[in-house]
Amino acid sequence: MTLASLPTVEALRAFVRDCRAAGDKVALVPTMGALHAGHLQLVSVARRHAQRVIVSIFVNPTQFGPNEDFTRYPRDTERDLARLIEAGADAVFLPSVEAMYPAGFSTTVTVAGVSEGLCGAFRPGHFAGVATVVAKLLLQALPDVALFGEKDYQQLKVIERMARDLDIPVAIVGVPTVREADGLALSSRNAYLTPAERQEAPRLVAVLRNIAERLTAGEGAGPLLAAGTAELAAAGFAPVQYLEFRNAETLAPLERADRPGRLLVAAYLGRTRLIDNIPVEPIRS
Ligand code: PAF
Repeated sequence: MTLASLPTVEALRAFVRDCRAAGDKVALVPTMGALHAGHLQLVSVARRHAQRVIVSIFVNPTQFGPNEDFTRYPRDTERDLARLIEAGADAVFLPSVEAMYPAGFSTTVTVAGVSEGLCGAFRPGHFAGVATVVAKLLLQALPDVALFGEKDYQQLKVIERMARDLDIPVAIVGVPTVREADGLALSSRNAYLTPAERQEAPRLVAVLRNIAERLTAGEGAGPLLAAGTAELAAAGFAPVQYLEFRNAETLAPLERADRPGRLLVAAYLGRTRLIDNIPVEPIRS
């Protein structure tokens, strides 16, 4: 299996044109590289939706705040390409920063509502950076379908809203989070964890799972979230930026699991910011 390397928007568009001429559907998997099994799962689900799968690798500077990890974000293109060949991707789009943001670039896509609160409250400008680059990638490739991990659940909701609002004719598909055996959600940033932090990290999802069960059993969110935050703080997560129960679709706050909900958390373990989320089933009657 060969992996076509597409360094420019022109090459990307020519590739998509050839796929279409051959009668093939095209899927796009946008990534920032440092590929792990979660990304490879996106490629594998993409295969169910389209005959041709393109993966983009672009560490997008506009979604990082001034004090965030843009410069130390893990980058290993050779390793990424080997993984994509193994996973059976058809092409990789590798645009340069200059091609994505040429001199004079002046447009930002902002999505109100779902961008606000949660990570939006702690990472000002982050979702505008994500929405802008994803709008560009979708318009550059115009695939039939684009896939995103549910690990970044708020991001997924922002992208769904943006594509709907701007009439971008691409189906947005969310793919469930891939986890280590001990429950830790796969993330390129897990590489930052020390061995001791790595041992402690699965507590994040353990707390979420415990709260989710009790919400589905009918308990109210307030006391459960307060106890969960205290448990994480006692285990060394500092700060716990948020632990919240939200409507799974609109991300509006929920007190009871009277409709499909989502529990979402962000907390630092040492210098590493971890996020996670899980679905909450409505109360069983
Ligand atoms: O989830 C990511 O890797 C990035 O936020 C994305 C969607 C590729 C946009 O840069």
